Amino acid sequence: MQKVTIKKILKKKNKLPIVCLTAYSKNVAKIVDKYCDLTLVGDSLGMVLYGMKTTRDVKLDTMILHAKAVKQSTKRSIVVFDMPYRTYTNKFIAYKNAKMVMKSTKCDAIKLEGGMKIAKIIKYLVKKKIPVLGHIGLLPQTSSNFKGKSAAERKRILKDAFAISNSGAFGIIIECVIENLAKEITKNIAIPTIGIGASKHCDGQILVTEDMVGLSDFTPRFVKNYSNLNKSIEKSVKNYAKDVKMKRFPFIKNVYK
Ligand code: KIV
Repeated sequence: MQKVTIKKILKKKNKLPIVCLTAYSKNVAKIVDKYCDLTLVGDSLGMVLYGMKTTRDVKLDTMILHAKAVKQSTKRSIVVFDMPYRTYTNKFIAYKNAKMVMKSTKCDAIKLEGGMKIAKIIKYLVKKKIPVLGHIGLLPQTSSNFKGKSAAERKRILKDAFAISNSGAFGIIIECVIENLAKEITKNIAIPTIGIGASKHCDGQILVTEDMVGLSDFTPRFVKNYSNLNKSIEKSVKNYAKDVKMKRFPFIKNVYK
């Protein structure tokens, strides 16, 4: 088994696509780990698992519990911890929280949302030996929704990309940015870009696993459903309920004698 490292991910830029998915739990992490370079414990778990309206309500303690489960079940891929809203408001708070997270979860890196505004924070964390993955474009924590369609948005996103790249981050997630801008960023920055709704021109791709397997209740345009788990879970639950009501379950083989 070849362990993925940040160095190996950096080497893939312009050569081999970087495969990434989210995981919040042991069972999903074990599967994701077999096929992905990077597993993200995303704060999207607030909406996906807990039914929250926004990722802003996700707490550090909740993320830590999930990250511990994921990291313990991961052998090859690098595990990235998504720092929740308001846990990196300045470089000192960011370092205090990130240090605690890295120590308690043993994750390989953290992810921060934002562009130019947080570049100095990233620089500080990297100097303190904490590997950072950036995240630009659509930013769920601050409800910024820049796709780069207007000249002003395009300029701003480009500046964000260069600021994060120059800050020492080892990669950038680009969320919901128009194709030709994602292509321009990928071509011009030194670090790998990982797209989510940002075209095939990025150096890698990421999706929320629950979206990809059809377990979420909505499917954004940029998601491809590789299965429909909602349907198959519902079918199983329906058949189980029927069996219980008709006293067909448990069967003899399910009973202790
Ligand atoms: O929280 C998350 O899952 C993410 C991905 C959508 C990239 O940030």
